[in-house]
Amino acid sequence: MLPDDYSALIQARHSIRDFRPDAVPGEVLDGILDDARHAPSWSNTRPYCVAVATGERLDRLREGYVAAFDASLPLQHRKRSAMVKAVLTGTLPDGDFKTWGRYPDDLRPRSVKVGVGLYQHLGIERGDREARDAQSRRNCEFFGAPVVLWMFVHDQLLPFSAHDAGLMLQTLMLAAQARGVDSCALGVLTTWRGPVEAEFTIPPHYKLITGLALGYASDDPVNDFRAEHPPLQLLDPR
Ligand SMILES: Cc1cc2nc3c(=O)[nH]c(=O)nc-3n(C[C@H](O)[C@H](O)[C@H](O)COP(=O)(O)O)c2cc1C
Repeated sequence: MLPDDYSALIQARHSIRDFRPDAVPGEVLDGILDDARHAPSWSNTRPYCVAVATGERLDRLREGYVAAFDASLPLQHRKRSAMVKAVLTGTLPDGDFKTWGRYPDDLRPRSVKVGVGLYQHLGIERGDREARDAQSRRNCEFFGAPVVLWMFVHDQLLPFSAHDAGLMLQTLMLAAQARGVDSCALGVLTTWRGPVEAEFTIPPHYKLITGLALGYASDDPVNDFRAEHPPLQLLDPR
């Protein structure tokens, strides 16, 4: 492969937020997963594992995640006594890592920019809570993807296990892209562990770090959105 071809593959990948229902053929999915095993890892520990869901299992997971999302809306809206009610009703997010914390001050503007950019692209007004919730809920519907992966990292090799899972995630997304399969990482799924734990046996010490949707992009305008990719932040030598 020529360097230009590799650059083109990398630049062709972008997050897809509406998928056609078409299944990814088994041999294509197997090829993607097989490529992902070639990702490098800390001392070759491969400190992660992956749950792959399709079909009826994925339908059940979609239901579970949408229910968890809806139950968390009062918390997301910071309604009074939402926290107390969530504790009493057992609907507090049960993810292994906190996903709703405030971003560090220097990174927050970047996150705001992509969020605002996406909502503007979709014509969703800042104050239109219903439309914003509906778009957020789409994450928990996995944007209609026919295949979703849940990725877990070993909690005794953090932060390196999370780092290695990232290397594997990008290897996998590019392997998918090379086969015409689109993707969107779904970090939001990290908020809830219960639904995926009901469907898969997760070994001890493995913590949910992200989800990943795979499938074929629809022609919905949401997929025309492009995030910024400014140059890497290079440090000045002393
Ligand atoms: C670990 C991880 C988790 C992500 N989680 C979500 C998510 O939950 N929902 C979403 O719409 N995009 C998610 N994204 C996509 C990012 O917003 C996206 O990668 C970034 O804005 C750059 O855009 P691009 O992927 O189109 O190049 C996630 C990306 C990564 C790497």
